[in-house]
Amino acid sequence: MIGTENAVLEALRTRRSVPKVREETPPREMIEQIIEAATWAPNHHRTSPWRFVVLTGEAREALGEVMATEAARTLRDPESEEGRAILAKQRTKPLRAPVIIVAAAVPQPHPKAIEIEEIEAAAAGVENMLLAAQALGLGAMWRTGKPAYSAAVKRHLGLPSDAHIVAFVYVGYPDVPILPRERISPAPFIDWR
Ligand SMILES: Cc1cc2nc3c(=O)[nH]c(=O)nc-3n(C[C@H](O)[C@H](O)[C@H](O)COP(=O)(O)O)c2cc1C
Repeated sequence: MIGTENAVLEALRTRRSVPKVREETPPREMIEQIIEAATWAPNHHRTSPWRFVVLTGEAREALGEVMATEAARTLRDPESEEGRAILAKQRTKPLRAPVIIVAAAVPQPHPKAIEIEEIEAAAAGVENMLLAAQALGLGAMWRTGKPAYSAAVKRHLGLPSDAHIVAFVYVGYPDVPILPRERISPAPFIDWR
C-alpha cells in the first residue's frame, strides 16, 4: 500500500475512542491545542461555524443536572426506584472525563453558506480534535445521545437555538489500553466507474 510510513495515515489508522480516562485534568494548553486543531478543518466560505464550550470541574455537574432534568420529563415516574436510578446515571455521565469539549456548529449568516456544510465543517473539526488528542497522548471520545439534540442543553451551554451540538468530546489521560481496530475493507463501499 502507498504511504504506509506516512505519519498522518498512521495517526488516523491508529486513532481509537477512549471510553475510560483518569480523573487528572490535562493542562489548558493541551485543550487549546485540541480546539485549534478543529479550526484547521476545511470550511466552505471560511465562515468558522464552530463553537466550543469547555466544561471542567463543577461545570460538568451542572450539565449532568440539566441532562437529568431533561430525562425526567420523559419518565412516567421519575420518583420510582427505576426512575431515580436513570436520573442518577444522567447526573454522573459528564463526570466520565475531566474535560468535555462541546463542539457545536452555528450556521453563519453568509449569503452562500449552506447549513449542512456548516455542520460538516464542525464534524470535520471534531475528527481533527480526536486525532490531536491522541497525538498529545490523551484519550478522547466522541459522544452524543439525546442531550446533543436538547434545546434545554443548548440553552444551558449558552448556544443559540439554531446551534447543532455535533459532539461532546470527552478528554483525559487514557485509563484503558488503546487496542487496534479490526480493519474493514473499504472495497464494498466503493463504486469505481
Ligand atoms: C456522530 C457520532 C456520535 C457518537 N456518539 C457516541 C455516543 O453517544 N456514545 C458512544 O459510546 N460512542 C459514540 N460515538 C463513537 C463511536 O461509537 C465510535 O467511534 C465507534 O465505536 C468506533 O470506534 P473507534 O472510534 O474506536 O474507531 C459517536 C461517533 C460519532 C461519529
